[in-house]
Amino acid sequence: MCYAGPPVSEIVQQKRLTSEKADRFTESVIREMTRQAMLYGAVNLAQGFPDFAGPEEVKEAARAAISADINQYAITWGAKKLRDAIARQMKLWQGLDVDPETEITVCCGSTEAMISAMLAVTNPGDEVVIFEPFYENYGPDAILSGAGPRFVKLRPSGRSADPEPVEGSSDSGEWCFDPDELRAAFNAHTKAIILNTPNNPTGKVFTREELEFIRDLCVEWNVLALTDEIYEHILYDGAKHLSIATLDGMRERTVTINGMSKTYSVTGWRVGWAVAPAHLTSAIRKVHDFLTVGAAAPLQEAGAVALSLPESYYQKLAADYRQRRDCLLAGLRASGFRCFVPRGAYYIMTNIAAFLPRYGADDLAFTQHLVKETGVAVVPGSSFYNDPRDGAGQVRFAFCKQLPTLEEAARRLARLRAP
Ligand SMILES: Cc1ncc(COP(=O)(O)O)c(C=O)c1O
Repeated sequence: MCYAGPPVSEIVQQKRLTSEKADRFTESVIREMTRQAMLYGAVNLAQGFPDFAGPEEVKEAARAAISADINQYAITWGAKKLRDAIARQMKLWQGLDVDPETEITVCCGSTEAMISAMLAVTNPGDEVVIFEPFYENYGPDAILSGAGPRFVKLRPSGRSADPEPVEGSSDSGEWCFDPDELRAAFNAHTKAIILNTPNNPTGKVFTREELEFIRDLCVEWNVLALTDEIYEHILYDGAKHLSIATLDGMRERTVTINGMSKTYSVTGWRVGWAVAPAHLTSAIRKVHDFLTVGAAAPLQEAGAVALSLPESYYQKLAADYRQRRDCLLAGLRASGFRCFVPRGAYYIMTNIAAFLPRYGADDLAFTQHLVKETGVAVVPGSSFYNDPRDGAGQVRFAFCKQLPTLEEAARRLARLRAP
């Protein structure tokens, strides 16, 4: 049968065919930079995926699961073995008792866990508090779920917009929020606060004191914490990760989000999870079920094996990342970047004032220069802020790469001439 109606272009003009929500955000800048890295043959220090192998035992477990015909849908909220392993590790790492039957939802990555949680708990008119700079997904997550974002700034070393001139490795990079500013962001409409510790892009690891301050506000205003802890094991200089769910009064109001991507270097497997009290989990599970049905069944089996790796695996993970961090820091400093030294996660935010305007008017122009002329892909700082001007003097480097990759990036960056 032939189509006999008016030309499709006419219909498109008559009626808005895309949603107002989808029109309010762009495609991911981070993932766009990966495409540009491929186009220009640049070293990709933009997107946070490792260029090295994942653990052999975990890959073997995935192969074995496929050979054993674990090919059909897992239980929608997650394979039992994986949920049991998550509950066991929550107890081991955070001292939290979690019921794998009622309090865990396995999702397609922590990305899906976050949007499922947002859709499960927010209503139009609700507000969510988001620290900025923020991992770029949280903005669209808020729009898609209909919640109004309230941004609260993290500022380096208290107030200043510049990093400290750093020589050592742990003497700066402390991004702090102003307690009064945070308090002012809470009101009767506040439904949740989104936390990310260790933090992307700043490398901040929230302290107990800070988390207790946030806890007090959550309790006072009856607000939930949605906490993205996917860099839990990537810590430096003695920094300790603390889950806000462990603080008095927070267990019942926290959704803790984590996943395999970063800890086991398998970002493409898309296995993550949300841990929350049963009353929240049942809402999250419903959203998750109708969004994606479930994460890949054989990879969930491998997830259970990953979560059974010995303590030495996590120690080596952190030690290897420390080496990578220090390698990139040295290269960046030698080229004239001022660096915010991360205490966790695998990114270095930099201040690019020394390169402007010689290599571009702002972060976007400088990023284009870097990818096309210098051969290094990074993420413009503006993609981490609600107001792009706030990030116009910053770019982010990812160092989840082999040392030779980082060394090659440093060689290329050395061609830049900072005054
Ligand atoms: C803070 C943060 N959350 C979530 C993600 C994505 O995690 P997943 O691969 O589990 O969806 C990233 C990836 O860079 C991230 O930095």
